[in-house]
Order: sequence, then C-alpha cells, then structure tokens
Amino acid sequence: MLNTLNAIFTNPEYLTQTTFSDYYRATAVSFPDLCALLDEDAIAEDKLADYVRLMNSLSWEFEDLADGGRGVAYNVAQKVVGNRQHGMIALLKCFSPSFRDMPDADTNILDVLGGDGTIARFVQNIDGPRPTIITADLSRFMVDACMKQGLPCVRQSATRSLFKDNALDGVLIAYGSHHLAEDDRQLAISEAYRTLKPGGRLVLHDFETGGETARWFEEVVHVYSRTGHPHPHFTRPEMWERFSAAGFRDVRVFDLNDPFTLPGATADEAVSNALMHMYHMYDLVKIANGTGDIVNRVARCVEQTLGEIHVNKADDDFVATIPRKALVAVGTKS
Ligand SMILES: C[S@@+](CC[C@H](N)C(=O)[O-])C[C@H]1O[C@@H](n2cnc3c(N)ncnc32)[C@H](O)[C@@H]1O
Repeated sequence: MLNTLNAIFTNPEYLTQTTFSDYYRATAVSFPDLCALLDEDAIAEDKLADYVRLMNSLSWEFEDLADGGRGVAYNVAQKVVGNRQHGMIALLKCFSPSFRDMPDADTNILDVLGGDGTIARFVQNIDGPRPTIITADLSRFMVDACMKQGLPCVRQSATRSLFKDNALDGVLIAYGSHHLAEDDRQLAISEAYRTLKPGGRLVLHDFETGGETARWFEEVVHVYSRTGHPHPHFTRPEMWERFSAAGFRDVRVFDLNDPFTLPGATADEAVSNALMHMYHMYDLVKIANGTGDIVNRVARCVEQTLGEIHVNKADDDFVATIPRKALVAVGTKS
C-alpha cells in the first residue's frame, strides 16, 4: 500500500490509473510515429510529474460528472460524427496549399483541443485522401475516451506542448479556443509555431465577439449549462495581432459557415435530433423543468440566437441545419 502511495506521489496519474510511463509504453507499441514526434526533454520524468499535477488541478470542465464536468454529455452528442461536417471539412482543407483540397495521410495535424477524438473519427469516414490526425486534450476524461477508441492521442495543455520543434505539418486549435484564458492564448499560438515545420500551418477557429454565436454562448450556454460558460470569444484584430506576434506569415482571417447538421428519418425527427444534440453538447441541464419541456425550450433559445432551423430532404433521410458562423485565422510558419 505504502509503495503504491509513493508511486502515485512521485508519478501522478496522467490518465486514469495510468502514469505517463504506462501511457508511453502502450503508445510506443500502437503509434511509434507519434512517440517519435515527442520531445525527449519535455517528457523526462522529473519535468513531467509537476506538469501532470498542474493539468490535474486545472482541468474540470470537460472531466467526468464527479469533477463537476460536462464531458459525459459532450461525448454522447459527438457520437453523430457528421454533426459539424461542413465546418470540419473547410478547416481541414485550410491545411492544403490551395485551401481547396483535403490533405493526405502524410500530413500530420495536431488537433490541440481534440476532446475524445471527434475530428479524428470524422476523418476516418472521409472517402479519398485524408490527413493523419493526432488528438490532444487537457482533460483526462477525454484522453481516456480517445485511448479506449484506439486513436493516437496525447494529454497536454495547448500552452505547453510535448512535441518537438518543427515536428508537425499542421496545428488545429478549434471548437473551444475561447476556453483558453486571455494569458494562455498567445502561449498556445506560440507553441503551435514552435512545433510546426517551416511551411506548416496553424488554423485557429472560434466565434466572433458580439456575433450571434457568441450570444448563444452568453445568453443560453452560460445560463443553462451544468458548468456555465464564462469564456470571452475572439475578435478579428486579436487573431491578426496574435498570429503576427508569434511570427506567422500570410495570415488570413475570415468568416466560415459552420452549421450543425443532424439527420432523422422524418423532418420532425431531424429537428428533434438537432435540438437534443444542442442539449447534450452544452449539457443544458437547467433549461427545462421536466424532460417534456426540453425540445421546445432549446428550440426557442436556438431561434432567438443562432437563427431559424432548416430541414432538407437528403437521399435516404432528412437533415436539420442549425446555422452558425465561425471566425477563422490561418497562418504559415516561415
Ligand atoms: C468544446 S470541446 C471540443 C472537443 C472536440 N474538438 C470537438 O469538437 O468535439 C473543447 C476541448 O478543449 C479542451 N481544452 C480546454 N482547455 C484546454 C487547454 N488549455 N489545452 C488543451 N485542451 C484544452 C477541453 O478539455 C475540451 O475537451
């Protein structure tokens, strides 16, 4: 017992009941190419123990229910892999020279806020060329879930990457960039720069301060989510300034249509699936008094902030679309 306690004290849990050494041994067998990209100095035991303790103390919002987090409900919503397919395809194409092609498997992209591997799973379903996605996340719960699915992944903070200098073809910071505190944003963008190969790109995705999507977060998610959502979004000048300060060239900042699309056997079912998707994704446990009220309450909130829900007939089913606009910055490492 004493030996176990000593081991936990010197080697804190990196993943559940897993030290970093355990994780590394398993990953070296399944994904040797990923281990080859990690910086030996950064993963040395003496440095890592404090880092892991820090991550354990900081991470809660996307952890398990017992930690007050909303990771469980979030991952339920992500089982429909195509729920943000329009935006995800556009973001991945930003890593090709033309911005119009899907990169191929030789393109290693680190998904810095990768959750339980939503984008990696989406990419596995793409026909034709598709990039190699390595998922990273601060949350132990998320990286545990990634490991269980056999996806290449690493637990780290966006602000302190375990990857070598000049190792990656692409870095994606998306679908949660507003979770980076003001002081951490520049660090995360600089870490992307350091770890990218010359010519590699950073794609940063968030929602514009003052826009409809920011209103959805402020007026709905912050009020009704299990965790609240007190996170400021990005402005266009902020994206420009932060990319320039980190050293990126050829910076572009632009709007991106990034709707939620959910299928159903009928038009009504597609709309209901879309609304329940929003309920789970943001864990809106305070939005209704009873389960019978949820769909109507979420519908009203969606329409008052994001806009009207549309339904289209697809080949075999119907697809409900909830509109959403994102703000994206792309820069290239010199
Ligand atoms: C909204 S979720 C997005 C997950 C996934 N990309 C998706 O779209 O389904 C945001 C993720 O960012 C992670 N996160 C928050 N702050 C982070 C940080 N400083 N470093 C790395 N990950 C972080 C959270 O743990 C969470 O899993």
